[in-house]
Amino acid sequence: MQPGSGGSNGAIHERRVQYMSGPNQVRIAPSILSADFARLGEEVRAIAEAGADYIHIDVMDGHFVPNLTIGPAVIKALRPHSDLPFDVHLMISPVDPYVEAFADAGADIITVHPEAGAHVHRTVQLVKSLGKKAGVSLNPGTPVEMVDNLLGDVDLILVMSVNPGFGGQSFITSQLAKIEALRARIDGSGRDIELEVDGGINRDTAAAAIKAGAGVLVAGTAAFSGGADSYADNIRRLRGA
Ligand code: DX5
Ligand code: ZN
Repeated sequence: MQPGSGGSNGAIHERRVQYMSGPNQVRIAPSILSADFARLGEEVRAIAEAGADYIHIDVMDGHFVPNLTIGPAVIKALRPHSDLPFDVHLMISPVDPYVEAFADAGADIITVHPEAGAHVHRTVQLVKSLGKKAGVSLNPGTPVEMVDNLLGDVDLILVMSVNPGFGGQSFITSQLAKIEALRARIDGSGRDIELEVDGGINRDTAAAAIKAGAGVLVAGTAAFSGGADSYADNIRRLRGA
């Protein structure tokens, strides 16, 4: 696939084979929330060249979470800048009316919070009906049982290790037990479900999250610190944690 042709439903497989890490390696999903918003296209290219596996995009509505970020138009504008999968984390409520716009904009994975709508199973089906991978995200206060009736459907479970809304917060260590519990559930399901952790990831917390069973680490501050010359080292350090 050529840069610029992203966004079509058939593109995900081609994008997914371009992982920088091996199949059993931890994947790194830098959150562009910590990038320079005035140069987002360049930042996406730089972090992709530095070895990112996904581009994590935090969408906030100032209502479901107390912050406002970006919408589908920005995702569409970024799409030509990288062939990496766009891992779109929707922190918006209601969510269903906007899912199609994010799919059309070029999202590959669309992750939603069960609290963002009355029918999370329906939302997951909606994401899948659009040919996208579906993720469900658990806030620190959301019990692990929330996923029990979704394990047959989702492609990704996102554990929030901070309360969503801002980058730069501290990792909530009680979430490690949740990661362990989810790892057991995922392995028991026999399905290929990615287990991703988001919030307060640095070298130390990355190691703890990996040990607990996480396979994908979202990192904002830790990935984008020090400017573009540091990105490759930042990612290497997290992957090797
Ligand atoms: C928080 C977002 C995160 C955030 C992570 O609501 O979902 O993706 O950007 O930032 P750090 O890594 O700085 O905690
Ligand atoms: Zn996120």
